[in-house]
Amino acid sequence: MENTDSKKVIFSGMQPSGELTLGNYLGALKNWVNLQEEYDCYFCVVDLHAITVRQKPADLRRRTLELLSIYIASGIDPEKNTFFIQSHVPAHSEAAWLLTCNSYVGELSRMTQYKDKSQKAGDSIGAGLFTYPVLMAADILLYQTNLVPVGKDQLQHLELARDIATRFNNTYSPTFAIPEGYTPKIGAKVMSLQEPTKKMSKSDDNVNSFILIMDPPEVIRKKISRAVTDSLGVINYTDEQPGVKNLLDIISAIKGVSPLDLVKDYEGKGYADLKEDAANAIIGELSPIQEKVKALMSDKKALEAIYKQGAEKASYVGTKTLRKMQKKIGFIPR
Ligand code: TYM
Repeated sequence: MENTDSKKVIFSGMQPSGELTLGNYLGALKNWVNLQEEYDCYFCVVDLHAITVRQKPADLRRRTLELLSIYIASGIDPEKNTFFIQSHVPAHSEAAWLLTCNSYVGELSRMTQYKDKSQKAGDSIGAGLFTYPVLMAADILLYQTNLVPVGKDQLQHLELARDIATRFNNTYSPTFAIPEGYTPKIGAKVMSLQEPTKKMSKSDDNVNSFILIMDPPEVIRKKISRAVTDSLGVINYTDEQPGVKNLLDIISAIKGVSPLDLVKDYEGKGYADLKEDAANAIIGELSPIQEKVKALMSDKKALEAIYKQGAEKASYVGTKTLRKMQKKIGFIPR
């Protein structure tokens, strides 16, 4: 059950708080697929994180299973990796409290994601959105994680997890491995199709700004054809043309060809060609995944077997770290 081989440990997770986007896929998921052979991997559906904003219970249930199906359909092997649902392993909530008592309001207030959200919501922002990075630190640290593959927007939270771990190790004694972040060279920040200087986000009000992993081909074509570009009319890979750059990045991340190499093929071509190629690349990548998700979602018993077995292993490993934390803090062993 335990990590007996000498492989290093990966932990990562996604929130089942909305439909997944192409950003989630290229920034994180696609890399999990590539890293699975080399590492002992824990891939979690972080439902505790999702309730930092109100969720409709029926939607949360469906999205939790759909997210697990997307993990598997993307090519992560359930035989070789540990998939589980965060709320099935109580050690996450317990460790989060212990780490909250070893965190500072100052460091949490500096998290840019929190600052952005609190600017919009003011005093009525949920307290969970403030403490959420500590729960994320607990997720990571419970498994003695070495590597955390995420998109760029999560690197600040990861840095905080490292700070909290170092502080705990220094205050008590070495307890946690200090995790490193991993972001892909291309695709670590997929941009909005409508405002290409902003991150593509599932919570964006404008549905044309994002592509969902489960969007049908005709919807993908429509959204890409409406993607904002510019009036220059030439295809170059430069920050001055963020819309064009984003489309090149998307094709590059899917095909594994560098954006500068891609640009060479567009000499004398226009934005319509680029958009058509982007749409074809996305559809080619997502269609087989969508088919597999539909098949997986129709066999709930098989999914249940996977997440139950995963929770068992995660509980065993995570609770071991939790017990160490409790002992060092001075709690009476049960
Ligand atoms: P979440 O659910 O917002 O996003 C899941 C993953 O997708 C990445 N991502 C993107 N990458 C590139 N371009 C984008 N436009 C884009 N949008 C999202 C995110 O960086 C992330 O890797 N707090 C985390 C979930 C979490 C977690 C963890 C991650 C909870 N515990 C422990 C790693 C380790 C979150 O809200 O991700």
